[in-house]
Amino acid sequence: MTGDINGVVVRDATEADMADVQRIYEHHVLNGLATFEEVPPTLHEMLGRRDAVLAAGLPYLVAEVDGRVAGYSYATSYRPRPAYRHTIEDSVYVSEALRGRRIGAALLQALIARAEAGPWRQMLAVIGNSGNAGSIALHRRMGFAPVGTLKSVGFKLGQWVDTVLMQRSLGPGDAAPPSALEEPRN
Ligand SMILES: CC(C)(COP(=O)(O)OP(=O)(O)OC[C@H]1O[C@@H](n2cnc3c(N)ncnc32)[C@H](O)[C@@H]1OP(=O)(O)O)[C@@H](O)C(=O)NCCC(=O)NCCS
Repeated sequence: MTGDINGVVVRDATEADMADVQRIYEHHVLNGLATFEEVPPTLHEMLGRRDAVLAAGLPYLVAEVDGRVAGYSYATSYRPRPAYRHTIEDSVYVSEALRGRRIGAALLQALIARAEAGPWRQMLAVIGNSGNAGSIALHRRMGFAPVGTLKSVGFKLGQWVDTVLMQRSLGPGDAAPPSALEEPRN
């Protein structure tokens, strides 16, 4: 268990949670611009994606409210080439009906804490849609700074969509090189 933040229980996702995770994501795939996916992944696909996150030693978390999965967060490698190995990207999704109740903050805070306990030094947010006030506010609140906007790189739901990049350091960041013990698993 990762802990109770803002009254929300955040813990490692189990296989049994992934049906709820799939349903939460499906809504955002079909109706939102935060993700550039257009066809909701199946439960089988979501289970495989979680396995890949765990295989890299990265966290995959869920938030529980009243015993039900209300949202999830996970980290993935930012890019596959080896020199990027200390840089990860976060993803956070909250059930549409429960947005704005600090669940996203609890999920991202716990994800950052878990990542800081590992060998990772930078975390990026690749936010779909420059009008995504919720995600931009959440990341700013968690110490991310804007680093740029990619204009109209997506076309979804009948409109051009920007990507907003935000970044924060993890632990010592770039103040010191990683030690030999700090090599990620991937
Ligand atoms: C973005 C998302 C994860 C945020 O989670 P949430 O539980 O709704 O947000 P929280 O209640 O934890 O809010 C965190 C901060 O953002 C602010 N915020 C949340 N929604 C906001 C909005 N629509 N407009 C402005 N600020 C907002 C909150 O006020 C809070 O800031 P504060 O602590 O300074 O008051 C959630 O809304 C979501 O799932 N959105 C759709 C998918 C998405 O965009 N995911 C992110 C992909 S990068």
